[in-house]
Amino acid sequence: MKGEAVRTIAVLNQKGGVGKTTTVANLSAALAMQGLKVAVLDLDPQAHLTIHFGVDADKDGNGAYNVLIKSADLSQALINVRGNLWLLSANIDLVGAESELVSVVGRETILREAVESMVESFDYLIIDCPPSLGLLTLNALAAVKEVLIPVQPHFLALQGFGKLLQTVSLVGRRINPELKISAILLCMFDTRVTLSSEVKADIENFLESARATESPWSQARVIPVHVRRNIKLAEAPSYGKTIFEYEPKCNGSIDYEHIADYVHNYMGVDSKDDEFLASIAEEIDELDSTLASVDEEIEAARAAQTTAVEELVEAPAPALAEAAPTRLGPIGRSKRRIVSVATPSARRLPVRRPFAVALRK
Ligand SMILES: Nc1ncnc2c1ncn2[C@@H]1O[C@H](COP(=O)(O)OP(=O)(O)O)[C@@H](O)[C@H]1O
Ligand SMILES: [Mg+2]
Repeated sequence: MKGEAVRTIAVLNQKGGVGKTTTVANLSAALAMQGLKVAVLDLDPQAHLTIHFGVDADKDGNGAYNVLIKSADLSQALINVRGNLWLLSANIDLVGAESELVSVVGRETILREAVESMVESFDYLIIDCPPSLGLLTLNALAAVKEVLIPVQPHFLALQGFGKLLQTVSLVGRRINPELKISAILLCMFDTRVTLSSEVKADIENFLESARATESPWSQARVIPVHVRRNIKLAEAPSYGKTIFEYEPKCNGSIDYEHIADYVHNYMGVDSKDDEFLASIAEEIDELDSTLASVDEEIEAARAAQTTAVEELVEAPAPALAEAAPTRLGPIGRSKRRIVSVATPSARRLPVRRPFAVALRK
């Protein structure tokens, strides 16, 4: 991409906790590791992105506030956080910026003007938006050409989606005609939960129905790799590390590396998804076979557990009282609670609730 125009991307969803910050941190780190020059802008007063890169938000987090409110020079305000990677930091002062901006003329385009002055020195400019559709988000949308929407596929995933699209549409019409939604990224995807696939299908159908329209999402795609649920991604920020520094071989690292590849080489390019999938076909096959073997292990564990329970039921009463607590994992009250059961290999595997209920009978 070097030598070509800079890519400007806002990572946006007015819902909190869907994976925006995790995506900005690790996507930008992956791109920077490829030798691309990347600037990331933290526009969330919660400053999670700033903290994720190990920057002290209280002490050094007023970058975004100074640029938006005090007309500070953006290139001067950027902090070099890694090789090829620069951060416009945030802290809680940004809460004030939202109301202070209200009375400023041209309040939605302050960031765009700041960005225009320095953007040519970068290959990527990626903005982590706050979980709201207020003035900070409008500034982000006015300053970029592409929007990437992370979605967490649970049963309220698409609630508020209409409002989000309306906002992008409005900014597109009024302030930024080049604005397009490039992609939807499914985060914390759980391959074992049918709902994840249902949400994905819903979004794909919706996007298909918009193909022939003039809407900013008419070319949007669901990125064909998802970010799997991976605890390492949740642990890395508290060490101020990207996933590649914290656990370079985990699923989270693999997923974000593929996503960076997709964003860099395929996103926004019509019907290149097949080519992308072909490029990672081998790894997908490997994954499929790993999943199949995990399925087998779970099946074996279930069978063993059923046999164990049958033996217990047939055993005399004292044996049942002694053995039951060690055999059965904790069984909670919540319907969605995941319990674990002992497996033959002494590993503990998650088993979904209906099975636990069956065990209880
Ligand atoms: N794929 C994942 N697997 C497990 N935890 C994740 C994953 N992605 C994000 N998280 C965790 O979920 C929480 C919300 O993610 P975050 O990126 O902060 O969302 P947002 O910026 O949209 O509020 C964070 O604690 C983060 O570490
Ligand atoms: Mg966030």
